[in-house]
Amino acid sequence: MKKSVRKAVIAGNWKMNNTPAQTTALINEMKPLVAGADCEVVLCVPFVDIAAAVEAAKGSNIKIGAENVHFKASGAYTGEVSADMLVASGVEYVVIGHSERRQYFGETDQTVNLRSLAALNAGLKAIICVGETLEQRELGYTETLLKYQTKMALTNVTKEQLKNVIIAYEPVWAIGTGVTATADQADEGNGFVRAAIAEAYGADAAETVTVQYGGSMNAKNAEELVSKVNVDGGLIGGASLKAADFSVIVKAASEG
Ligand code: 13P
Repeated sequence: MKKSVRKAVIAGNWKMNNTPAQTTALINEMKPLVAGADCEVVLCVPFVDIAAAVEAAKGSNIKIGAENVHFKASGAYTGEVSADMLVASGVEYVVIGHSERRQYFGETDQTVNLRSLAALNAGLKAIICVGETLEQRELGYTETLLKYQTKMALTNVTKEQLKNVIIAYEPVWAIGTGVTATADQADEGNGFVRAAIAEAYGADAAETVTVQYGGSMNAKNAEELVSKVNVDGGLIGGASLKAADFSVIVKAASEG
């Protein structure tokens, strides 16, 4: 199977940006610009912005995601939010295991796996992030690491649940740095992820999984990146905070 069997997904990851009022304004600005998209359009927003985002996106093709989810259903986990809470709030997607969470908040391959299982069991679509540091790349560990992270994240995920899995390959050295992976590096990294899925679930299943690229993807480089056979859209940080830039990326994915 080829790229045409997979749905491109352009997802904004707002990170720790925007108040509810700013959320409403930005989504209202984006709505007409992405209305005709031939790809999935998702905005993953801070927990406090979810209600405003869901309300603003009503009746449009923009889907709302969260930026994290806890693996327990409820209980004494101060500061955490469960998958059922997200579903009840109108959330359809959730980013899991972003490198910033691994780097600053002690996220491990095991907790990424637990969060992924919780999200999938609740019916959410999980955008699971993997990616190597510059040091790991320079030591030649990129393929090994991407395959390991992918397989660890998907432990006990069923083939049926794989339909709700998106993997985002985000080289840590390319996030927020302005240094984008070349289109060939992105394609290669995404290919390693797909190969890992093929090893775990078979080649046919792997061909149907959306694998995004993320890391300084912007209005200028999106077209070349999404033209690659293994790049099924992107997870966009900085450029998802500007309606004009985000809509150019959505357009590129719609045509790619
Ligand atoms: P930037 O697009 O700002 O580099 O961020 C990428 C990212 O981390 C998306 O999750």
